[in-house]
Amino acid sequence: MVERPPLDEDRRLAYLEAMGVSVWEPRASLPVSAEPLVVEPASVAAATDMPTATAPVAREVPPAVVDERPVTAERSVSPEIVSPPESMSFPLPDWEEEADYSPALLDEWEAMGHPPTTEAEAVNPIERMDWNTLGATVRGCRACRLWETRTKTVFGTGDRRADLMIIGEAPGAEEDSQGEPFVGRAGQLLTRMLAAIGFSREQVYIANVLKCRPPGNRDPKPDEALACQAYLHRQVALIEPRVILSVGRISAQHLLKTETPVGQLRGRWFDYGPARIPLRVTYHPAYLLRSPEQKAKAWEDLTEVKRRL
Ligand code: URA
Ligand code: SF4
Repeated sequence: MVERPPLDEDRRLAYLEAMGVSVWEPRASLPVSAEPLVVEPASVAAATDMPTATAPVAREVPPAVVDERPVTAERSVSPEIVSPPESMSFPLPDWEEEADYSPALLDEWEAMGHPPTTEAEAVNPIERMDWNTLGATVRGCRACRLWETRTKTVFGTGDRRADLMIIGEAPGAEEDSQGEPFVGRAGQLLTRMLAAIGFSREQVYIANVLKCRPPGNRDPKPDEALACQAYLHRQVALIEPRVILSVGRISAQHLLKTETPVGQLRGRWFDYGPARIPLRVTYHPAYLLRSPEQKAKAWEDLTEVKRRL
């Protein structure tokens, strides 16, 4: 077993880099398409507490973090540590107390000459993993405390070459016991929503921000989402979906690094990550089960996604 790297500042930064914290910050920017912003009919807006026009929301989206580096395998070798955007209020995890990396990840580090001593060596092994290694790494992951209470990790399911990728929040009880995302009640609604635009579960790829269930279905903590994000980034990079559908507040706010309410994030396109993948936000099916009157809006979101594909 490889020892943990000492936590002097350089190595801590290198380790954060390796976990994808600074290398692969998703960028939110305003509509990628030339289409005008969708303006809600007054009657729909009146039924909610949303503003009628969506344009003012633009100011709440954090400034784009521009990554001019070419998208190549070398992308992961960062010439400098790029600070997260100010809007990203996530506290950094306490690596000494909490991080306990998967044996598969530590093996990768060792093969690369772990621990890194120069910036050039601070390559994120997760960014280069194939599906098998990535899956094994997640199964053995102890990078946040959720490993202690999970039954199974929930990696993701579906077509690894899908055009459409769905990103939810975190496993619930049913997902935790089966090891598959979106199989509980909310998941069954998601499956029907996808069917309504002509997709089976097998034709899309479904994953979550977190791979392990937060106990009692509490909201994921920011440090948990941060610890887990390199896995999701790698999944997105391997799949290269044409469109991402982010379902629910936690997913949308994490992916777009914003605290804007989900009702204001839906209704327009964002682009996500270095590949600038078109991303659309919609309500979480668990919310739709409680608030079925919002299904019409979710339907609008889904038809926009379908149109884009
Ligand atoms: N809710 C989610 O966000 N993801 C799941 O996998 C299940 C429920
Ligand atoms: Fe690892 Fe993610 Fe599970 Fe935390 S939630 S233990 S980071 S796989």
